[in-house]
Amino acid sequence: MILVTGGAGFIGGNFIRDWLKNSTESVLNVDKLTYAGNFRTLQSLEDNPLYRFARVDIIDRPELDILFERYAPRAVIHLAAESHVDRSIYSPAVFVQTNVVGTFTLLEAVRSYWSHLDNVAKTTFRFLHISTDEVFGSLSPGDPQCCEMTPYAPNSPYSATKAASDHIVRSYHHTYGLPIVTIHCSNNYGPYHFPEKLIPLTIARALAGEPLPVYGDGQNVRTWLYVLDHCSAIRTVLSSGIPGQTYNVGGLNEKTNIEVVQAICDLLDVLNPRASGSYRKLIVFVRDRPGHDRRYAINTRKIQKELGWKPAETFESGLQKTVQWYLDNQDWINEVQSSEYRKWVEFNYMQRA
Ligand code: NAD
Ligand code: TYD
Repeated sequence: MILVTGGAGFIGGNFIRDWLKNSTESVLNVDKLTYAGNFRTLQSLEDNPLYRFARVDIIDRPELDILFERYAPRAVIHLAAESHVDRSIYSPAVFVQTNVVGTFTLLEAVRSYWSHLDNVAKTTFRFLHISTDEVFGSLSPGDPQCCEMTPYAPNSPYSATKAASDHIVRSYHHTYGLPIVTIHCSNNYGPYHFPEKLIPLTIARALAGEPLPVYGDGQNVRTWLYVLDHCSAIRTVLSSGIPGQTYNVGGLNEKTNIEVVQAICDLLDVLNPRASGSYRKLIVFVRDRPGHDRRYAINTRKIQKELGWKPAETFESGLQKTVQWYLDNQDWINEVQSSEYRKWVEFNYMQRA
C-alpha cells in the first residue's frame, strides 16, 4: 500500500480519490484533521476496502512507528502541512511545528522503517515530498521562470518552513540514501479547495453576494495548476522519478490576481447570472499582504522532457470545471465554513479594510 500524509486536505483528498480510480493498490491516509482537513471530502470512500484512515499528527513519532509497522507501505506521499501564507504571517509557530518538526519526525520514522527492509524493498521504496514554487521567492516581471536549480529565497513564514523541510528531506537522501523525490508545485486550484485561498474564496463569496477582496493592485502573478493535473504528476513522479531529483510541476500559464478574479466573475455571469448585474461589481481592492511576493513562475521543461508529463487542462478549461463544481456542491462549501473559518475571515479581512 501507499501512505499519504495530509490526505484530508485539498490536494491529498483529490489525490486519494484519483488514486483509487486509477489503481487497485490500497492507500492509508494519515491526517491530523486540522481546520484544513475535511472529512467530508473523503466520505464517499468510507466503505471502500482499499481506503484506510488514521487520525495522527506527523509530529507523533510513536504513532507513526505503529502505522509503519502495521501497514508496511511501499511509498509515502508527504502532503501534510500548514499551507496558507496569510495564516503563517499571523501564527508562524504552528508552521514551524508541522512543516519543519513534523517533516523531520516523519523522516525519522521512515528512516527507521526503511533501514529494516530487505534490499529489493529498500531500492523500490519511495518518499515523495511535495514542496512549492514559493521556496524560490519572488520574481520581477522580466525574470526567467524558476527551474529546479534556481537558488532558494523564501519570503514568508510558510515558504521558509517549506524550504527548511526541503533541505532536511534532501539531506536524508544524500546522507542516508533514502529514495526521496521532491516536487515543486505551483498554485493548485480545483474541487474541494478550502475557501481561504484566492479561487475558492472568490467563488464562495461571489455566490453569497459578498465583496471579492483583491490584495494591493491585483497585479501579483501566479501560475495555476488544475489539481487533477498535479495528481497525475504525482503518479508519474512516483513511478518514474529518479531518487534524489526534484521536479517542477505547474500549469502552462501566468495570471495576475485581478485576471483570475475577473475570469471567475465572467464564468459565474454565464453559469449563474445575478439579477443585480455582473459579479465584477463585487470586486474590491484591499490593503496588501505584508511581504506579498510579486510573481511566481516555474519552468516545467524537466518533467515534460524526462518523464513525459504535461498538464491536460488549460487555465480556462480547469477554471470552468472548478466553478461548475462549486455550483454543484454548495453543501460542501456551506459545511466547511465553520465558526473557526468565519472568525478567520473576519480577522484577516478586518486588517485590510
Ligand atoms: P491543505 O491545507 O488543504 O491540507 C493540509 C492537510 O494536512 C490537512 O488535511 C491537514 O489536516 C493536514 N495536516 C496539517 N498539519 C498536520 C499534522 N501536523 N499532521 C498530520 N496532518 C496534518 O493543503 P494543500 O493545499 O492540500 O497542500 C498539500 C501540500 O502541497 C502542502 O505540503 C503544501 O505546502 C503543498 N503545496 C500546495 C499548493 C497549493 O496550491 N495548494 C501548491 C504547492 C505546494
Ligand atoms: P493564495 O490563494 O493565498 O495563495 P499563495 O499566497 O500561496 O499564492 O493567494 C493567491 C494570490 O491571491 C496571492 O497573490 C494573494 C492573492 N489574494 C488576494 O488578492 N485576495 C485574497 O483574498 C486572497 C486569499 C489572496
